[in-house]
Amino acid sequence: MRYFFTASLVVASLAGHVYGHRQAAQSPYDEGRVVRQRKSLGFGPDHPHAVFRASPYQIQTNGFTPMDASMDPLEVARLFVDDVLMNKKSSSSSYKIRSDSYTDKNTGVTHVYVRQLINGLEVADGDMNINIKDGMVLSYGNSFFAGAIPEPFTNPTVNAARIPLQKSCDQLHQTLHSLRRPNVVDSEQVVMGQSPASEANVPLMQHFAETSCALASLPEGFTSDDIADFRPALLAFMANATPKPAVADDIMDNFDSHRDAMEVTPIHHFASGEAGLEFVVDNVPDAVNPVKAKLAYTQIPNEAGDSTELHLVWKFEVEMEDNWYETAVSASAPHDIISVVDWASDAYAPIPKPPASSGASYNVFKWGINDPECGERSVEKENFDLHASPAGWHSMPYANDPSMKGVRLVNKRDFRNTTTTWGNNVFAQENWEGQNSYVDNYRPDGGVAKAFNYEYDPQETEKVDALDEAKKYINTTVAQLFYTSNLVHDLYYRYGFDEVSGNFQQHNFGRGGAENDGVIANAQDGSGFNNANFMTPPDGQNGRMRMYLWNTAIPYRDGDLEAGIVIHELSHGLSTRLTGGPANSGCLGWGESGGMGEGWGDFLATTIRSNSTYSDYAMGAWAANRPNGIRNFPYSLDEDVNPSTYKTLDKPGYWGVHAIGEVWAEILWVVSQGLIEKHGFSDTLFPPKPLADGTVPHGDFYRTDKKGALVPKHGNSLMVQLVLNGMKLQTCRPSFFDARDAIIQADQVLTGGENFCLLWTGFAARGLGVDAEVINKTPWGGGIRTNGFTSPSACVDK
Ligand SMILES: *[C@@H]1O[C@H](CO)[C@@H](O)[C@H](O)[C@H]1NC(C)=O
Ligand SMILES: *[C@@H]1O[C@H](CO)[C@@H](O)[C@H](O)[C@H]1NC(C)=O
Ligand SMILES: *[C@@H]1O[C@H](CO)[C@@H](O)[C@H](O)[C@H]1NC(C)=O
Repeated sequence: MRYFFTASLVVASLAGHVYGHRQAAQSPYDEGRVVRQRKSLGFGPDHPHAVFRASPYQIQTNGFTPMDASMDPLEVARLFVDDVLMNKKSSSSSYKIRSDSYTDKNTGVTHVYVRQLINGLEVADGDMNINIKDGMVLSYGNSFFAGAIPEPFTNPTVNAARIPLQKSCDQLHQTLHSLRRPNVVDSEQVVMGQSPASEANVPLMQHFAETSCALASLPEGFTSDDIADFRPALLAFMANATPKPAVADDIMDNFDSHRDAMEVTPIHHFASGEAGLEFVVDNVPDAVNPVKAKLAYTQIPNEAGDSTELHLVWKFEVEMEDNWYETAVSASAPHDIISVVDWASDAYAPIPKPPASSGASYNVFKWGINDPECGERSVEKENFDLHASPAGWHSMPYANDPSMKGVRLVNKRDFRNTTTTWGNNVFAQENWEGQNSYVDNYRPDGGVAKAFNYEYDPQETEKVDALDEAKKYINTTVAQLFYTSNLVHDLYYRYGFDEVSGNFQQHNFGRGGAENDGVIANAQDGSGFNNANFMTPPDGQNGRMRMYLWNTAIPYRDGDLEAGIVIHELSHGLSTRLTGGPANSGCLGWGESGGMGEGWGDFLATTIRSNSTYSDYAMGAWAANRPNGIRNFPYSLDEDVNPSTYKTLDKPGYWGVHAIGEVWAEILWVVSQGLIEKHGFSDTLFPPKPLADGTVPHGDFYRTDKKGALVPKHGNSLMVQLVLNGMKLQTCRPSFFDARDAIIQADQVLTGGENFCLLWTGFAARGLGVDAEVINKTPWGGGIRTNGFTSPSACVDK
């Protein structure tokens, strides 16, 4: 406890300075135009009772025995949940098995996602994920509310506010720190050279408390007797969330008129098991699309911090220019924002039709060349992987083409073939204006031959002309972004990020999952410099990636040309959709979970660029024009080069998700080198293309497995597979321990546990062994950690 207290004080004392910096209208890089520095909120309550159990032994000793192997996995899941609820004596709660549950085709594991319902309302953070194979529960995560069920919700006589509205600002500050503790806001600091992300967190946190405080003292609009009116809560959130001080002021000055201008439309679900309190709201200041609102419960830690209490909240989904928030705001105390997840993530802080006969070609830095310093451009072909992209990269049904909206079509199921960077997986275009529209933005046209062959020869100019010089090569950089992004789609597809598990495609070829969610990829996005970001809404809504120019050198460097940055961004989509299920984008919001969301991207980008001769790699070194890149350390086996261990998370400056992610990526890098030492290195991470009958030849890529699963043969490809399978197994809001256990279980499922000791040894090498510990852990990454360098006893003599 003392630790939190001290930390809060440190945080507060730094506040004014950095916030002031962020508000400065001119940054050294803004080129005289308005550059938005992305503000991002991310925090939420702790779930002290949440567990991830990855050992079948633990599950069986709790009394749940394996079912018959032929039993429907959803039925097994139902029996299992009933059993858990019965043990917890909270049988008056119910649940729904989410429709985004699926079976992994390669491993045969069924990933079942369950949401808790109480009094007919969803518990927004009451999640179970259950992994089932052959009638057996292999592992599960559980954050279901386990306490006494409150009286059913009867508007408007629900219990009075948890936090009395008249509280003084001081009290409010205290409440913010003590009750919910994790009121740390993860902001994104764009410019390099600024050290710890934590400094940037401080001012936003301060600002957050102040805005909330000011709102709480507003007499009008906050005497929320009628909790069914969520407009004050939504306005309170917008005042906090908007990065524009003028908008925040306007909301507070003209509160009533904003409230009255909102148009609220109820959504009626036919045959929904839940209470129908769901709405869409128009005219919300600073939102770019109608906001979705839903009444739900959320859990907040009790005073002792050892269990949770239920609190009634309005859950909003708010799309803004630079953020896409999922937030829970107290229904009874509308200034009280209980949790926020930004579906947008920045790259960097601290700074079944056959394809057309002739495929496209692109003059690009080919796959494996991380950036212009690592090689030359060459003409590369559209990579026909009939399994991953059955219609190629430039084709989709008219019905799924956003540019055909409102056009009357004879047969919408026909495939429309394009000659631009517009296809089923990716829409790539310039976005110099930094706006949200993309359909009509400029994109290169390769003509009937689909030949995207453009020059790239940026010249040194005066600084004032550098932006125009960079824009001359927009054809080149959009084509490169399109090429890299499609290859990432195809690569991840082959490792199991397919339609049912929530990948990004406009059309899903009848293979399940939600459609109409290709990636909107903006090159040279005008909303910033020296960064990149990705927004991941739930399956069925487009992901959005924004790549920026870097003004770290003249000529400017274009992030679209640095594959590692693009891969990092697209990996946010991967990890967010795979963790906790395709329809839940709220599982990697903050703290260790959010940090790993960053770390996987760095790890995958680094693995993709590496070759059979080991070397260390820095992230973003070319774009940032810094040999050591934009992280604290390059990724390295050498502890003198990269000393990160689990315990590093306790250091000052390791609050932000990027610093946490760097530690996670380093640990994965060390683990993967162990696998490479044992199993060798595959020069390509792409599995062989399937034959015409759909079978996948093993080649030198897969080894033959008696049970028929495809098991990558080499260390690097196996590691990528285990990392993806681990994401599918792990719980919502995973800790480092949970993610480690999930990777070890992924190996158990795929190879029968051949690499059990090797994996443990790798994790233990950087402090994440069986004896690693954390006490007083806080959801935003705080706590006191002890490195554990020990492997399980079964491994000691090996
Ligand atoms: C698009 O290409 C596919 C494959 O070559 C072809 O079957 C289809 O008819 C084309 N669509 C149109 C509208 O020409
Ligand atoms: C992009 O390519 C087109 C031809 O496809 C050309 O007309 C145009 O001038 C190019 N744009 C730039 C900025 O060079
Ligand atoms: C492997 O990568 C390193 C670092 O990028 C590079 O220096 C080396 O030339 C590469 N080796 C081969 C065989 O491509």
